[in-house]
Amino acid sequence: MRIVVGITGGIAAYKAVGVVRAFVLAGHDVQVVATEHALRFVGKPTLEAISRNIVHTDLYEAVAEVRHVSIGQSADLIVIAPATANSLAKMAAGLADDLLGNTVLASKAPIVVAPAMHTEMWQNAATVANAATLASRGIHFVGPASGQLTGTDSGAGRMAEVDEIVAASLAVAAAAAPVASDGDLTGVRVLISAGGTREPLDPVRFIGNRSSGRQGTALARAAAARGAEVTLVAAHLEVPVPDGVEVVSVETTAELATAMDSAAASHDVIIMAAAVADYRPAAVSNAKLKKESLGDAMTLELVKNPDVLAALASHARADQLVVGFAAETADTDAALLELGRAKIARKGCDYLVVNRVGWTEGFATEGNTVTVLDRAGSIVIEARGSKLSVADEILSVLAGRLLEDRHRTPSEIPGAP
Ligand code: CTP
Repeated sequence: MRIVVGITGGIAAYKAVGVVRAFVLAGHDVQVVATEHALRFVGKPTLEAISRNIVHTDLYEAVAEVRHVSIGQSADLIVIAPATANSLAKMAAGLADDLLGNTVLASKAPIVVAPAMHTEMWQNAATVANAATLASRGIHFVGPASGQLTGTDSGAGRMAEVDEIVAASLAVAAAAAPVASDGDLTGVRVLISAGGTREPLDPVRFIGNRSSGRQGTALARAAAARGAEVTLVAAHLEVPVPDGVEVVSVETTAELATAMDSAAASHDVIIMAAAVADYRPAAVSNAKLKKESLGDAMTLELVKNPDVLAALASHARADQLVVGFAAETADTDAALLELGRAKIARKGCDYLVVNRVGWTEGFATEGNTVTVLDRAGSIVIEARGSKLSVADEILSVLAGRLLEDRHRTPSEIPGAP
């Protein structure tokens, strides 16, 4: 992906070096466009070495290349970090008095801004109005966070951390990437659960998991692009909901189970991509649990939640397809498959998408590697790539299967009673 990193003149410009480096290390082609003021905070040689590209600032340099528009036109994503109050004001007004302003105006790519400024400036009515204008035009904001500012003061206005800017930017790009739209799921109703459920202990605490909802929302987006009518049962998504998808928001496994059960009958394909809490606290306190009453150790009694996927699979009609996911930690591919085969036998679904998870794999990442198993435990496909491309490959399997099933009598359909 070609990413333009715009750097404007704030002290947080030094942190932009980390943003550029993270994009480059992730394999992206990064073009830095720095303002003159930004280069007072961070040197051009540093930015050129880290981005592995010439850094442009000047509108009147290499005019023959029409650079003032070509950089923006060729970008897949623009990330402006830090974005000062002045740069937000210029963007809101559509000013193009420097190369960054021209790049932004000439681009159709999604734009992410990471504001950085003093609290008073962030809270000033002018900045508030400019930020609202930009947000209403679809520009994505990461932060600002609250914390230590440049001087001795602290408050809202600190630039978001590098990892957060990079993750949010890649999620925005993934959500905007073009998807296949061959219409092979036209008229098919697809129900997908995504994200991770949370089980409350008290009004402020919960037991949750690291699922971001990226794979489930990628499935929803890819299915909608193929013409499906999609319902997304969403549990705490960290990513935007795709356009054209009906959303039902849920908190707990019980709420997710109710939402899935009541929608299941009216859908042709049911995909359980959500990471569902297997257990919930036996009792939920209405008041915040206090250390004084708990003492030095706390014992939490948990009770088992229902298995939503197994129940959906056991009630499914012969003309429905039920797909589960299996997140497993395994040392070898063979061990992973063995766990997957045992799981699909236990769950009784038509397909199981098995992926390896770990401290750095599976959750909250942009890519995925999966193996899809059928009821017999045979490998149907192995897919690797962005979560969107993995979603597309899974949907190709389902679209092919729906097509095959339409040409069979019910008794010939695998899994039919
Ligand atoms: N699932 C479910 N209800 C649960 C637990 C899991 O519907 N109470 C679904 C998940 O959405 C996923 C599949 O079952 O599609 C497998 O989830 P996973 O967490 O891998 O397996 P578990 O059944 O929880 O078994 P274990 O954690 O012991 O491996």
